[in-house]
Amino acid sequence: MRWFEGSAARFLLYRLGLRAADTQTTAAERDCLARHAAGRRALVEIGVMHGVNTGLLRSVMSENGEIVGIDPHPKGRLGISFERRIALAELRRHRRGKARLLRQLSHEAAAEWGDRPIDFLFVDGDHSWAGIERDWHDWSPRIAPGGLVALHDSRSVPERPDLDSVRFTAEMILPDPRFRPIDSADSLTVVERIADERVADIAGASG
Ligand SMILES: C[S@@+](CC[C@H](N)C(=O)[O-])C[C@H]1O[C@@H](n2cnc3c(N)ncnc32)[C@H](O)[C@@H]1O
Repeated sequence: MRWFEGSAARFLLYRLGLRAADTQTTAAERDCLARHAAGRRALVEIGVMHGVNTGLLRSVMSENGEIVGIDPHPKGRLGISFERRIALAELRRHRRGKARLLRQLSHEAAAEWGDRPIDFLFVDGDHSWAGIERDWHDWSPRIAPGGLVALHDSRSVPERPDLDSVRFTAEMILPDPRFRPIDSADSLTVVERIADERVADIAGASG
């Protein structure tokens, strides 16, 4: 490994302003996230990494909003997660509302979440079939009517093999009658929670 690829060196370069925080999202995906998160009040991101999009979401949410980022941020050889330190610094760049980072796996956070509704969820954690299936099962019922879920790596893009989350989205999320797709950008899909009465109407509709 070259010296500048270690996580401590990576953090140092970040603090010196010589390297920006990393993200796997494209500019078009970030535009789409910012557009739909604007003014939202209860936001959650599953899979924070360096917090580029956690900070972005904070910068556009309601002044009275709260964003909660969830990531286990495992400690490295020095007993420190430099990823988490970068994420905390990215979050501190913005001042709107409140921001919290939960150092947990998403299903652990879900078990302690209670009944607080969410109006914007960005899912970008475990992209295996079992991982996204669990996230969808745990978190989709908590989305308020009119609330949005943005799913990263949920659409095929050129030059990158599909993750399981692409197939899960096509087979399980897009057909889910509680939600309707409203937007997409590169590998990102955005779906909206339909008001419960409308779901009941659609489910009860014949012919
Ligand atoms: C692709 S990165 C997230 C990138 C980030 N959302 C961004 O846009 O820059 C995936 C992150 O998900 C985290 N992760 C993996 N499984 C997770 C889970 N079950 N719950 C929460 N975070 C998870 C990893 O630790 C990693 O930091």
